[in-house]
Parts: sequence; C-alpha cells; structure tokens
Amino acid sequence: MNLIAASLRSDELLHRQQVFNLSIRQAPPGPLTFHAMKILFLNGPNLNLLGQREPEVYGRATLADVEGKVRERAAKLGVEIDFRQTNLEGELVAWIQQAKGVFPVIVLNAAAYTHTSIALRDAILATGIPTIEIHLSNVHAREEFRHKSLIASVCRGQICGFGLNSYILGLEAAVNVGEAGKL
Ligand code: DQA
Repeated sequence: MNLIAASLRSDELLHRQQVFNLSIRQAPPGPLTFHAMKILFLNGPNLNLLGQREPEVYGRATLADVEGKVRERAAKLGVEIDFRQTNLEGELVAWIQQAKGVFPVIVLNAAAYTHTSIALRDAILATGIPTIEIHLSNVHAREEFRHKSLIASVCRGQICGFGLNSYILGLEAAVNVGEAGKL
C-alpha cells in the first residue's frame, strides 16, 4: 500500500516538474525583448506582371525585384516586411481588415483600384491604420482618369513617379509614421 502511494506521489511530482519546465519555456518575454516594427506592403492588380507589363511606364524590374530591394532596405532599418500581391479587390479589403492590431502601418500600391474602389477607401477608414499610397508611375502626368485617387484623402500621404524607389520611399515614410505612432 505504502509503495503504491509513494509511486503515485512520484508520478504527481514528475507531472508537476513537467508543467513547471513547460511554463518556464513558455514564460512571457522579459523587458529586454525587442519587437521589430512590422510593415505590410499590399500590391493590387497587374502588378504581378511588372517587368513585362508596359516597361516604358513601369520599368524592367519584376515585383520580386521590388520586394528584394524593399527587404534589403528594411533589414538596414531593422523592420519586418510582409509583401503581398493580389488581382482581387475583395482580397485587398480582407487583408486591410486583418491588418488591424498586427501592422501599425500599410504601404499600398492599389494599382487600378486606386481610381475606382470605394471599398478600399472604406476599409482604410474602418481600420484606421495609417496607410501610405504609392505608385511607380507619376499618375498625375498620365491619362486623366488616373489623376483621381479615391484613397488619397484617407491615406497619410502619396508617393508616386519614382519607379522602384517609390517603394523605398514608401517604406521610409512608413517607418517614420510607425515610429511617431509609438510616442
Ligand atoms: C500604378 C498606377 C495605376 O494607375 C495603374 O493602374 C497601375 C500601376 C503605378 O504603380 O504606377 O496598375 O499604381
């Protein structure tokens, strides 16, 4: 009887030890833990065709090249990047909604949806996430229908006309806005 009771107790002890070890491993990060700022880059329709699409307007760099340059600069600035592209308006809306509480800033090249999408505008307004509008080309120097942006007035600012560098400037603006938001 005593032996059984003793072995039960040691099982219980072992169990407690395991729970204790686990809770040590899962202990919340201490005050010295550093969380890099996370910036969400969203790219709209046809930007997957960069490099082959109207190179005289958009240049020869592919979207993967653009992402590479953004990641290079982000590493130097010490920030994390999530870089996505979709041809679907609803997917952009969903990504903006899901960004709430995860990303302090969004850099958005909404491509053609810039000029047409009330849904995107509403999503930016609804989440309240500071958003920076970017374009490779200078939309104001092109066809008249590109002069109007339905998202510009709900964005923190607009960067356009610098080719691939619009993305780098967008990143720098995002870090600036994100840092200011922390103060
Ligand atoms: C663009 C400009 C838009 O007018 C166009 O529809 C695009 C790309 C740019 O990056 O220059 O698809 O957003």
